[in-house]
Amino acid sequence: MCEGMGFDTLDLNYGCPVRKVIAREAGAAMLTDLDRLQRVTTAVVNAVSLPVTAKIRIGWDRESTNAPEVVKALERSGVQWVTVHARARSEKFTGQAHWEVIAAVKQSTTLPVIGNGDVKTPEDALRMIQETGCDGIMVGRGSFVNPWLFERAHRLLNGDDPGPDATPRTRISTAIAHLHDLAAKKGDYAAVLMRKHVAWYVRGLYDNSSLCREVNHCSTPAEVETLLNRYLERLESAPVAGDSEPLAPAAPEWGGEDADAHGSCAAP
Ligand SMILES: Cc1cc2nc3c(=O)[nH]c(=O)nc-3n(C[C@H](O)[C@H](O)[C@H](O)COP(=O)(O)O)c2cc1C
Repeated sequence: MCEGMGFDTLDLNYGCPVRKVIAREAGAAMLTDLDRLQRVTTAVVNAVSLPVTAKIRIGWDRESTNAPEVVKALERSGVQWVTVHARARSEKFTGQAHWEVIAAVKQSTTLPVIGNGDVKTPEDALRMIQETGCDGIMVGRGSFVNPWLFERAHRLLNGDDPGPDATPRTRISTAIAHLHDLAAKKGDYAAVLMRKHVAWYVRGLYDNSSLCREVNHCSTPAEVETLLNRYLERLESAPVAGDSEPLAPAAPEWGGEDADAHGSCAAP
């Protein structure tokens, strides 16, 4: 099915911790039965001409961390590379990622290894490569707050200055462009979908909570845009050039399987 749709690779998700996926013995549940994991993966590899890759977690729980063995089974199945989210299924999206397991996987396989977990700044990206030897990096929640991370990390990894973080004006104009794109696809519902994104774009900025409260009551994209423009004016006339505190680099917390997919705007 994917082959005819223009995709370049087919990535098998053996990291999903969501209850309804686990109940079907899929996602991270596959990490508990390596024979089955190898049979399923081999069947997919044989069925398609696209390169097949896989994303895993480090294990079911911390006591049963088995990522190196899992990657060996994937290697035997013929996948082209693996991504390791350095948390166990039981940890969902909480706690610090265990980068040392990425390093152990890298040492135990010839496959390219993509590291994932807790990369929130360009410096984190560099440190992950230095500490684990991984071949590439996947960024999750860090990109919600900071979509500029990719460009800045790329510069740092090339040995250049990553440059300054995005200004409040860039953040707001990007939020408005994002809103326009979403409105073109979803109409007025974009106002609801944008709530969580607005919260991320203004994370750490001066008086963001009042903006977030107001955005939560908007029912059209035009209303959200007006509020964002007014907020920018307020920021730029604020006593301390826009932001009262440094932009928090921390990624937003994700409530995992029970979180509301649309979220709402809550000032972090
Ligand atoms: C809202 C949300 C949705 C996600 N959806 C997927 C998904 O569909 N497939 C996937 O492989 N990982 C998914 N993930 C996991 C991320 O790709 C990533 O592995 C995880 O967030 C850890 O990286 P981080 O610490 O940089 O956020 C999702 C994470 C979040 C927060």
